[in-house]
Amino acid sequence: MNTIKKIGILTSGGDCSGLNVAISGVVRAATLKGWTVYGIHDGTEGLTSDPLSYEILTLQGFSNTPWAKTAGSYLGSLNKGVNFDLLDMVAEKFKSGVQKLGLDALIVLGGDGSMGVLEYYCEKAGIRMIGIPKTIDNDTPLTDLSVGFRTACQVCMESIDNIETTARSHHRAMIVEVMGRDAGHLAMQSALAGYADICLVPEIPYTLEGIINKLEQIKSTGRTHAVIVVSEGIKTENGEVLSMCQNVLGEKVHGGIGEYLAQLLTKNYGGFQIRSTRLGHIQRSGHPIFSDRILATIFAAKAVELLDEGKTNLMVSLTNGHVVAQPLSEVIKAGSSTLKLDSSFIKAAKILGMYIGEI
Ligand code: F6P
Repeated sequence: MNTIKKIGILTSGGDCSGLNVAISGVVRAATLKGWTVYGIHDGTEGLTSDPLSYEILTLQGFSNTPWAKTAGSYLGSLNKGVNFDLLDMVAEKFKSGVQKLGLDALIVLGGDGSMGVLEYYCEKAGIRMIGIPKTIDNDTPLTDLSVGFRTACQVCMESIDNIETTARSHHRAMIVEVMGRDAGHLAMQSALAGYADICLVPEIPYTLEGIINKLEQIKSTGRTHAVIVVSEGIKTENGEVLSMCQNVLGEKVHGGIGEYLAQLLTKNYGGFQIRSTRLGHIQRSGHPIFSDRILATIFAAKAVELLDEGKTNLMVSLTNGHVVAQPLSEVIKAGSSTLKLDSSFIKAAKILGMYIGEI
């Protein structure tokens, strides 16, 4: 029997485009069922802080504002890592927050890391949980797509297009560093869509010689510019993943490999002048494109439907074109989903003559 009267919704981890579309969808569907929707501020912090930080989301309020269709998280989000030593202490505070608000269930917009932690908190608090996958990295397992990925690809593709104009003018090889953490989905798909010449991803080792050979081959065709896309998670020659900053727990956040490669190529190869651009957080901020808006909307509707059916501990997912529900335990067990070497994207890149490393 369904006893839901109040649900919470929060966004957890790095923000991305489409979060507000999903929040809006949940508010619309839940309100029609007569439920009250509590928007929790700043991820779990809104439920663990003193005083609690939240607002009631209504059709007349949040979902009728322009916020519903913009990037970012209207509710605020945290991307600060998890201190596992404090997990049970935070879980207790979370439980108390849930009890104060009288929540029956929580909808979590998060990536692979958030799903595991939030499932733990919700179980301790004795409430139901449904996850909606979101991340520009597209590394949430057991779903073909996560909310925000395709808008980030759009931003990267447009940046590649734009950078190619200056590469052509100055006869340069331009490196574009994109995010993605340890998964190459964002780099590979935007490189394919942007017709890049070289794409380096964490899943495939590369050599300096391989990059230079490709650049030489481009020159031999008479073309005087090139575009190289690199994923932030690829390693240096010494096997190191570079970082330019840390999260609040002191964990390294990837970044800087583009500039490293630019310097390495400049030192070892005179065939092209090299420049590097790190796209950075602009990748998380594009106006949600059609495919993210539709994905966020159908995920939101499914999440509310699952709660209405009395279900819990599930993550909505897109599998073979259908929105289905995956057990959270399976999602958590699967870990991060990286680029498969037999994927259509890798196959296409090879057939199209892109240098993607030693594969
Ligand atoms: O996971 C999303 C992501 O944007 C990664 O692609 C990137 O490595 C990281 O978050 C950046 O984190 P921060 O927001 O802490 O700089």
